[in-house]
Amino acid sequence: TAPTTPAGLRHFLADDDLSPSEQSVVLDLAAAMKAEPFGAKPLAGPQSVAMIFDKPTLRTQTSFGAGIAELGGNPMLVEGRLAGIGVRESVEDVARVLGRQVAVVVWRTFLQSDLETMASHAGVPVVNALTDDFHPCQLIADLLTVRERHGRLAGLTVAFVGDGACNMGNSWLLAGATAGMHVRICAPEGYLPTPTMFERASAVAAQTGGSVRAVHDPKEAVAGVDVVVTDTWISMGKEAEEEARTRVFADYALTTALLAGASPEAVVLHCLPAYRGKEIAEDVLEGPQSAVWDEAENRRHAQKAVLAFLLDVSTGGGTR
Ligand code: NVA
Repeated sequence: TAPTTPAGLRHFLADDDLSPSEQSVVLDLAAAMKAEPFGAKPLAGPQSVAMIFDKPTLRTQTSFGAGIAELGGNPMLVEGRLAGIGVRESVEDVARVLGRQVAVVVWRTFLQSDLETMASHAGVPVVNALTDDFHPCQLIADLLTVRERHGRLAGLTVAFVGDGACNMGNSWLLAGATAGMHVRICAPEGYLPTPTMFERASAVAAQTGGSVRAVHDPKEAVAGVDVVVTDTWISMGKEAEEEARTRVFADYALTTALLAGASPEAVVLHCLPAYRGKEIAEDVLEGPQSAVWDEAENRRHAQKAVLAFLLDVSTGGGTR
């Protein structure tokens, strides 16, 4: 089937779908929306936004649901198991049906390629609510949180410590580079983003003055950094590898001792859920440098900005 792609239609499938200047527009918009949560109604009508989750969710479902309502829209939960996307009917067919009903499709699923298929056939903006490869909405929230704490992004250094090969490692690489940050991904052998992902981020960093680097030693990675990020060692779908992963990542836990090597002003981020005593120590997660609860709140403001931006540019508005 020929994809329907109205001129100007934009999606948010991976972090580098936003150019550096667009990312900055979205972050400004998120900050403005945080200051005035009921101020903008781009979904007035209400128009509906479909939210589909093929993996567990708490923050993503609630922050999109509340955020869509604040934008004047109707958050429509499409039960992934009932829809059976790719099982009862093809991704292409689902995309064309959803595109006739809703203004935006928000989808959490496994394969990035399925999300891309959805985007090429829906005829409306499609937003990545987490895939195996990327978690770009989380990164807008993370960058917003860092900006709130440090007042800027470009030139800051961030260390992501843990499973660098997961969605969060990839997304930090691309979104951090887009923001002009110096990104260090610290993981054991075999758990770094692919060389292709590093090249993709390097190309962006070359435009923004940022940089990207792979590091194996956690102490070296966090030395002097402005932001320290970690994430579960066992991403959704990797549960069978729990034992092996707990062993492989044992030296990569974010403890107070490790954090002591970062800048004293360093901000700690974790997208949650957090496994205390595994990838992050209780006293770090609950400590004064942790911004994780702000980070969780900022999902709503960030995603509202993403939705408003995509709707605006896709309908020929002039946000850029
Ligand atoms: N890397 C984690 C992120 C959870 C929001 C996962 O995919 O499970």
